[in-house]
Amino acid sequence: MYIDIQRNNGISITKQIVLAILDQIRSGFLQEGERLPSVRALSKQLGVSLLTVVKAYQELEQDGFLHSVQGKGTFVHTKKTEEVEEYQENLSQDWQLSVQDYLPRSQFAQFHYVPEKIHFSSSMIDPELLPNQLLERELQQLIRGGGMFFSKYGEVQGDMQLRVAMQAYLQKRGVSTLPENLLVTSGSQQGIDLVARTFVGPGDVVVLEAPTYPGAIDIFRGRGVTILTVPVDNEGMRLDILQHLCDTYRPKIIYTIPTFHNPTGTVMTSKRRRQLLDIAQSMQSLIVEDDPWSEMYYDQKPPASIKSMDEYGHVIYLKGLSKTLAPGCRIGVLSASGSIFKRLLAAKANTDLGSPLITQKLLLPFIQSPKMTNHMEKLRTELKVRRDLVISILSAHSPKEVSWIIPSGGPSIWISLPPWMQSHHILLEAKKKQISFLPGSACFPVEHENHHIRLSFSFMNEQLLREGVTTLCQILYSEIMARSESDHSPNFI
Ligand SMILES: Cc1ncc(COP(=O)(O)O)c(C=O)c1O
Repeated sequence: MYIDIQRNNGISITKQIVLAILDQIRSGFLQEGERLPSVRALSKQLGVSLLTVVKAYQELEQDGFLHSVQGKGTFVHTKKTEEVEEYQENLSQDWQLSVQDYLPRSQFAQFHYVPEKIHFSSSMIDPELLPNQLLERELQQLIRGGGMFFSKYGEVQGDMQLRVAMQAYLQKRGVSTLPENLLVTSGSQQGIDLVARTFVGPGDVVVLEAPTYPGAIDIFRGRGVTILTVPVDNEGMRLDILQHLCDTYRPKIIYTIPTFHNPTGTVMTSKRRRQLLDIAQSMQSLIVEDDPWSEMYYDQKPPASIKSMDEYGHVIYLKGLSKTLAPGCRIGVLSASGSIFKRLLAAKANTDLGSPLITQKLLLPFIQSPKMTNHMEKLRTELKVRRDLVISILSAHSPKEVSWIIPSGGPSIWISLPPWMQSHHILLEAKKKQISFLPGSACFPVEHENHHIRLSFSFMNEQLLREGVTTLCQILYSEIMARSESDHSPNFI
């Protein structure tokens, strides 16, 4: 359980623990019957006294949010959201908590904190590797042009010239589409949101990979859908399990990241891509193929996209440009066809009447020119060096109980800890050394899984990668040593 304790904020630590647990109950992060860490484990994790945790648990138990079972542990007892809100409001004396919201549990908000010095938590690219100077010059030119792109709305569907350029770009990568079937979105995050708000609501079934991209979990959860999960192995989504689920349910949407899957980095095989499409056809489902990273391959080119095999319009393909080009521009494209596309276009109009014209015009010359391809090539070379560096440090310094998948592309390495080791706890230790990473639990839609680390190597330079990964290995070693020592000492609580 992740709780961020602030020592000097004027709120007692007991109260901070109580409020944090209530927050997690209210947002659905902690669910009915879930077992909380033992008093000893939580006090160790937070670096606070046993008595502080005992007091926090007792307070919550007295008010019916927890119950203890002798010899078994302390369990969550959920209540209606309004009751939790009222209780929190009284406790924190904050009237704003009485304003009810419809936010789902936010996987992102839970772990989206201020970046540490060594930032392994977000899969952004090191700004040094992005074409910032070229874009700056382009922006100056646009401004010198008299600001005409400030003073008018662009097309809701997105700037036609950009759609033509993106069509050509995608075509070269085997994704056949037409400018008419492309919608410019504010990043692929908006693409996922448009699909969700257009096609699913309470009662609908959405299939997500487990683990998956946390931002997608939040969106689908917010629609009140039933989320079913399918595990990922080294060939991508387990279609035998999906097929089995389809015997009982009809998924309306299957969301997948088949190429350099976030967070595991795996690539779905061509055979599975074909089979997934067959399943979607037989169930009349939509596939959302989220593809921010396919250009970033380090070993061999990934297989053709699912979209390239789609004859009947089952695939909604998303290509974000944040990762590899300019996150601040918030530009991505969505490709779909037929009435599915028309409805997504209507949703885009409802949402924001079109993405900002200025950033579309800013990226256009770069995408149209060979600079785009050259940039991707350079990025591949640079990121491969960083991936190899991290792998070599992990191989040399990490404890033997820790393992990882070597990604053949993308920004992250998925590290597996021994099952008893909690990545939340490792994160707290890492933060003491100014290191952050994404705890694997953020990536699981329903499973309570907490022994993975997603380490993104794309944002830090080689020096910080070296320092951060070596320190992380030391932290993992200390944990293993501490456990083997405590296994040999008497256990009181
Ligand atoms: C798989 C995946 N999809 C979508 C997004 C959102 O990206 P964008 O910045 O294009 O909205 C991310 C960002 O990390 C991602 O990893």
